[in-house]
Amino acid sequence: MRTVTVGVLGSGTVGQDVLNLIERRQRVFADIGVEIVIAGVLVRDVTKPRAIPAGIRVTDTCDFLQECNVVIECMGGVDRPLDLLRSYLRSGRPLITANKAMLAERWNELREYALGGKLYYEASVMAGTPVIGPMSTVLRASTFTRLQAVLNGTCLYILTQMEAGKDYAQALAEAQALGYAEDPPTLDVGGFDTAHKLTVMARFCADGDFAYDDVQVQGIDRVTPQDIQDAHAAGQRIKLVASLERDGDGWAARVAPQRLPNDHPLCTAGDNRNALVYEAEESGTLIFAGGGAGGMVTASAMVGDLLDYLLGFPGHVPLH
Ligand SMILES: NC(=O)c1ccc[n+]([C@@H]2O[C@H](COP(=O)([O-])OP(=O)(O)OC[C@H]3O[C@@H](n4cnc5c(N)ncnc54)[C@H](OP(=O)(O)O)[C@@H]3O)[C@@H](O)[C@H]2O)c1
Repeated sequence: MRTVTVGVLGSGTVGQDVLNLIERRQRVFADIGVEIVIAGVLVRDVTKPRAIPAGIRVTDTCDFLQECNVVIECMGGVDRPLDLLRSYLRSGRPLITANKAMLAERWNELREYALGGKLYYEASVMAGTPVIGPMSTVLRASTFTRLQAVLNGTCLYILTQMEAGKDYAQALAEAQALGYAEDPPTLDVGGFDTAHKLTVMARFCADGDFAYDDVQVQGIDRVTPQDIQDAHAAGQRIKLVASLERDGDGWAARVAPQRLPNDHPLCTAGDNRNALVYEAEESGTLIFAGGGAGGMVTASAMVGDLLDYLLGFPGHVPLH
């Protein structure tokens, strides 16, 4: 049996369930000849109660990074995780992350590790619904033409509540009370979280160097009850849509509220589900839909990435 030492950064919604799922999958690891040892879990507040397996070392320092064979980052932020991981990454060891903001905004530093197959980030887009895996493998043989996607659960929730008669402020307050929306909610309702995810996908579909700043972003904060009613009267629904398509020699990437017919796959996917319509010449149109958030949903993709690494598969390599 080979021992693989894992470090985990963050033990919030996602990190706790990553630890629980690793524990639950011990048999699967043993079947491939691996025993997972958790070297440490980084948090801010070590006194907070956590629903994680007993006996795991929870700490507010990252001294355990030196002894890790793999690190799983689920703390969020842009510069903070990268500052902590810079020398770890330079040593050539793998990183599994769900952090689309860091991937989108610090690609100049991360790209070389992604090209080297050291970055695993299935969970960064649509959480546990696999889209990065297919885009970075089998879909490569097709000529990508266009995608449209609904990628943010908070915006989905708010727009659905507005269809039920609430105004924007009420629906947002409800999303915040239920813990769906970030605080402040700008990342979600301003469209920036969706733009981060679109940027990550664009590097597989369009251009391996695609820059976050090249996405035109408009959020849902100016959608009015009247807009919702007008759409309804026309047999349409308003969704915050991420789109990517050819524009002359380049690519147009946009996040904005759009009216879509009621029978559009982005509308029929279900009220709490993220969805993606992917179009390519040879593969034709593909539709992906599923949970785009939640601790265990996200953990399923991250522990899946860990298994890929242990089985010898490279991480998600962008176009190059
Ligand atoms: N939640 C989802 O459904 C979801 C889905 C897909 C991707 N993601 C991504 O997954 C990541 C984590 O999300 P989350 O929802 O799990 O966040 P979260 O619940 O806020 O948890 C963040 C964790 O990181 C720790 N942390 C944050 N800043 C830290 C710092 N400066 N030093 C040490 N520890 C720090 C926190 O410590 P304390 O517990 O002590 O505060 C907490 O344990 C983010 O990148 C997010 O975008 C989340």
